[in-house]
Amino acid sequence: MNARGLREPRRKLHVKTYGCQMNVYDSERMTALLAPLGYAPTADLDDADMVLLNTCHIREKAAEKVYSELGRIRLVKEARRAKGRDTILAVAGCVAQAEGEEVLRRAPFVDMVFGPQTYHRLPEMVARLHRRSGAVLDTAFPEESKFDHMPRSSPVDGPTAFLTIQEGCDKFCTFCVVPYTRGAEFSRPVAQVAAEARALAQQGAREVILLGQNVNAYHGVDDETGQEVGLGELIRRLAGTDGLDRLRYTTSYPAEVDDALIAAHAEIPALMPFLHLPVQSGSDRVLSAMNRRHDRVFYLDLVERLRRARPDLGLSSDFIVGFPGESDKDFQETLDLVRRVEFIQAYSFKYSPRPGTPAAAMDLQVPEDEKDARLTELQDLLNVQQTAFNAACIGRRLPVLLERPGRHPGQLVGRSPYMQAVHVDASEDKLGQIIDLEITRAGANSLGARPLVPARPPAVTEVAARHAPEASL
Ligand code: 5AD
Ligand code: SF4
Repeated sequence: MNARGLREPRRKLHVKTYGCQMNVYDSERMTALLAPLGYAPTADLDDADMVLLNTCHIREKAAEKVYSELGRIRLVKEARRAKGRDTILAVAGCVAQAEGEEVLRRAPFVDMVFGPQTYHRLPEMVARLHRRSGAVLDTAFPEESKFDHMPRSSPVDGPTAFLTIQEGCDKFCTFCVVPYTRGAEFSRPVAQVAAEARALAQQGAREVILLGQNVNAYHGVDDETGQEVGLGELIRRLAGTDGLDRLRYTTSYPAEVDDALIAAHAEIPALMPFLHLPVQSGSDRVLSAMNRRHDRVFYLDLVERLRRARPDLGLSSDFIVGFPGESDKDFQETLDLVRRVEFIQAYSFKYSPRPGTPAAAMDLQVPEDEKDARLTELQDLLNVQQTAFNAACIGRRLPVLLERPGRHPGQLVGRSPYMQAVHVDASEDKLGQIIDLEITRAGANSLGARPLVPARPPAVTEVAARHAPEASL
């Protein structure tokens, strides 16, 4: 009990999230699921009765980070135990799904290991642990959907909210673990998505980012007609949600962008003119070995069709360098594709062999130093493009959704339609508003805009000073 006689939350939960936005969304849901059990979030690891790592398995580095973090948490857990306090340590997400028992073998002090499809069983798993029946392992792909059991929408933190509409992937790109960790493609029904969008808007969201590993494979059922609805049509319906001004979606799979989605970019003003469209490589040979189901001409043509629909579209992408068998000529084709498209932002990675994926067993793995050299060259080019785009924004007026206070007092940070962070001097009452701002500064990673400070009457001392008789000489 605190001084006012209110009951303190009985337990503290520390969540650490790795990887993609889907994990961020899942972490929010798991936090909401644990609230009824008395767990309140804390940023302080030492104070946590339960530590939840929501992990990422996409590249080796991401997975290894989890094990080093577990080593650190072990020490905290032991120190707490010495003071008579227990700490439940839970490993969730894609490392848990992919490695299962291996996590418990490498880190036997972990209490729970469970994959992305069993989050809804979390309260039951915690209850089992409280009854002390040993470590809990749940990496099944259950029949029932977690979306039927998870809290529909969590309290909105700021005016931008994530909404998972689709999960899993059946594309089996040869480098990728997602089909193994997240399972088969699954789309949430239209009514469920629409209800969650309405709830998010009612809680203050102005922008919703629709999430899915392969989001444009979305084919949710419309309960009224029994028909399946694609992403273009879903966006059209969500665009009418009261209070929602901006929609985005990520991550897209180029081979499945259809005409309805392209038309949505042309016709729906709420759909922001920014698209993350991973290409991975500009070489047909590599794209085929990656099982990407499209070639470079298809991608370049798709970009052209999208730009015809929405001429101000800004594009972002993912790239992998050093995929097995990638020659210097293949890599040059990637650079050439980048020059042709001109991305405004991008992520690029060295190929990381993932156990169990076909590419990990391929011949002709590229040496690490070659991967490093290619990554540096690609990132230099991408940085030049990003910086040039940002610089070209100087002098433009862009609608900016003001999201959070900045690092300096009196400063707010918002997002442009192109996902650039925009810094502006403005008062906190502007948070959550979309305001047209004139861009005055540009860096590699963010923009600055003309201050939004109301013209204030001169302070009394200034007035007095101005009217003071001039000192006689
Ligand atoms: N190695 C390197 N990068 C990878 N990605 C996915 N799997 C791997 C891997 N094995 C990258 C892809 C994908 C992004 C999310 O991560 O570029 O689009
Ligand atoms: Fe992985 Fe994306 Fe390929 Fe699916 S489409 S296998 S998530 S890279």
